[in-house]
Amino acid sequence: MGGIIVIGAQWGDEGKGKVVDVFSAEADYVIRYQGGANAGHTLTVDGKKTILHLIPSGILHPHTTCIIGSGVVLDVETLHEEITTLQKSGFLQRPEQLLISDGATVLLPYHRALDQAREEKRGLSKIGTTGKGIGPAYEDRASRKALLFGDLFHHDSLEAKLEASLQEKNFLLEHFYQKPPFSAKELTEKIKHLSEQLAPYRCKNTSQVIYKALSAKKKVLFEGAQGSLLDLLHGTYPYVTSSSTIAGSACVGSGIGPTSIEKVIGITKAYTTRVGAGPFPTELKNDPIGEWLLNKGHEYGSTTGRQRRCGWLDLVALRYAIRINGITHLALMKLDVLSGLEQLKICTAYELDGKTITDYPVTPGALERAKTIYKEMPGWKEDISYIRSAKELPKNCLNYVQTIASELGTPIDVISVGPGREQTLWIRPLF
Ligand code: GDP
Ligand code: IMO
Ligand code: MG
Repeated sequence: MGGIIVIGAQWGDEGKGKVVDVFSAEADYVIRYQGGANAGHTLTVDGKKTILHLIPSGILHPHTTCIIGSGVVLDVETLHEEITTLQKSGFLQRPEQLLISDGATVLLPYHRALDQAREEKRGLSKIGTTGKGIGPAYEDRASRKALLFGDLFHHDSLEAKLEASLQEKNFLLEHFYQKPPFSAKELTEKIKHLSEQLAPYRCKNTSQVIYKALSAKKKVLFEGAQGSLLDLLHGTYPYVTSSSTIAGSACVGSGIGPTSIEKVIGITKAYTTRVGAGPFPTELKNDPIGEWLLNKGHEYGSTTGRQRRCGWLDLVALRYAIRINGITHLALMKLDVLSGLEQLKICTAYELDGKTITDYPVTPGALERAKTIYKEMPGWKEDISYIRSAKELPKNCLNYVQTIASELGTPIDVISVGPGREQTLWIRPLF
């Protein structure tokens, strides 16, 4: 079969890590193709939590080959820490389990420093980035100044390349942001050491490896980071990340053609969350139900620990995500968090400038003006986290799930009722 893309259908943190880990039991390859260590993907196995930032979420399955493609901005320090932590826990025992593209963009401490300095200077109008250097690293790639992963192994030219890059960065840091500069010499030494540690994972042509896997009908998963509404071109700009987070990016970031893709699985929570600034029409701000979702859903960022903003499910936004990604199937996550709420609401349309609309507005400023129109439904009291078959879900809960699927016209193939692997209800098999 062709490749399967797993994509965040909201503003990130939908539960992509859990889904990819569960799917990986059957997958041969898992590929991360965009974003960087701004991602925080949580996997829970036998009650033990693993949070991955750069390494694909298939890594806990020894038979699965994990690939980091050229579209990723690779924080080499974080990557090294992640590898070491996994190895200490008994995973990633064979280097062949992880292949890193020579073409990935290297993210260094000065990218992080610039990201953080910029946010600080923006003050109240900050984006609320993760501070992981994502914007500055993608800028370097776009302006053709980036160091690529393959460059790290040419030690002779490393210091000169860093000197050239730091000229501009240090000027900005020192004179515009009043922050300390970086030394090319010190960084070179650090990178030389790191490159020796990372050399076993180097892969000169990940695009070819993926192509061969797909040609041999292997099971290949593409793991998205962030969410559709954080997409640089199609998200809530400027409150977005600096990469393309939609399904098309899987092809671009891993170097394969779109005809190799068979399914796009959209991951959505049964409600909505967002971290950082930007419009969020269904947000339950200063509202006891918002507090309920925050506490019961443990809605704190996996990367920064920040509190996530919480709100009702937004079908207008989901319809848009389904369209721009070509989502063929949905996975509905964190349904258990809604247990105990007396009344549930789903946003089915917006009112914008006196008109009812069901298409997500992309005109700048429109989303901020949009008012939500809700459908109300009765909730359920039962704890559903112990249920293992969709048929056993309480009537009102099934009604909630079926309403979402029929309003969206997209089938829900997977329902998740807890963070654990076993808390996954399959409506249809993946492969
Ligand atoms: P990702 O970035 O999309 O991988 O999602 P995160 O890992 O950042 O956030 C999702 C959080 O929800 C994690 O803490 C998961 O362990 C947790 N989670 C995933 N699925 C479920 C579920 O069905 N129910 C509950 N209660 N928690 C879940
Ligand atoms: P995963 O893969 C949720 C958000 C940040 C901020 C905006 C820009 O775990 O779903 P950036 O550091 O990328 O420049 O920040 O994007 N953001 C995420 N929100 N989940 C993520 O990743 C995110 N990655 C970035 O909070 O609003
Ligand atoms: Mg996350």
